[in-house]
Amino acid sequence: MKNGQIWQDTDGNDIQAHGGCIIKHGDTYYWYGEHKGGDNKIARFVTGQEVSRVDVIGVACYTSKDLLNWKYEGLVLESEKEDIASPIHTSQVLERPKVIYNEKNNNFVLWMHIDRPDYSYAGVGIAVSDSPLGPFKFLRAKVPNKQDSRDMTVFKDKDGTAYLFHSSNRNKTMNIARLTDDYTDVDGSFSSVLVDQEREAPALFYHEGMYYMVTSGCTSWDPNAALFAICPHVVGKWKLIDNPCEGKYARQTFFGQSSYIFEAEGKFYLMLDHWKPDNLKKSGYSILPIEITSDNCLIIPWQDEWLGI
Ligand code: DGJ
Repeated sequence: MKNGQIWQDTDGNDIQAHGGCIIKHGDTYYWYGEHKGGDNKIARFVTGQEVSRVDVIGVACYTSKDLLNWKYEGLVLESEKEDIASPIHTSQVLERPKVIYNEKNNNFVLWMHIDRPDYSYAGVGIAVSDSPLGPFKFLRAKVPNKQDSRDMTVFKDKDGTAYLFHSSNRNKTMNIARLTDDYTDVDGSFSSVLVDQEREAPALFYHEGMYYMVTSGCTSWDPNAALFAICPHVVGKWKLIDNPCEGKYARQTFFGQSSYIFEAEGKFYLMLDHWKPDNLKKSGYSILPIEITSDNCLIIPWQDEWLGI
């Protein structure tokens, strides 16, 4: 699979799983992401700046045993076609779907960025399913802790506590909001980190006593330089360190933007979206191995191809 390009599933169709995540359950990898297989339209941000979009189709799921051959499993959450008041109506924004498994309830919880076409709502949506293959039942949309929330991810700590990481304060600051035990809500405890650093697209992992967060800058669909931050605690004083990308086009994150970091067989991998604002459904993907140095730095060189594990 050529990094930076749109990939095909086992039926030969384009993989529609943008802004996504890959989780493992049992012996199967599940890739969830935005199905952007519609026509491009133009909307406007609250600032008046034009932004391209496609109407919400839903959250797509693909499965694989080897992270290379992906079988389309359908939409695990579909947009609402009739009720225009629904937060997941086709006319709205649904981005960056992230799924975590809840051991206690033996179910799967899907968090996503929910917005109006002008990005003025700035909230999250939460859905649940007993099966990783869905269907997910949409529970609610909300503005977590009354803090605006745009790009986001969810992260499960080693003790089972889960957190919502979300760009807040008009994308100036990253908020970390603790989730309830069932992962279907925030529990009211939150803190702000990377204050005034203007980071989005958070992707996290934990390795040997350190938490790592890769983020992008805020330039809509255009690429910019990634940065990684570290902290010895999931909620603590996160410190921005450097751009983890190395080599040609490192300053543009190889023309991609972070979406998720997953672990496979003891190694960590960064997923990138290569947005094509003029034709979002053709936006490509990359999966790049992450090197972790002994002094807690991340190095992510470009690789032309994703060859699996
Ligand atoms: C950058 C974000 O990372 C994407 O998820 C999307 O919200 C675009 N901005 C919209 O311009």
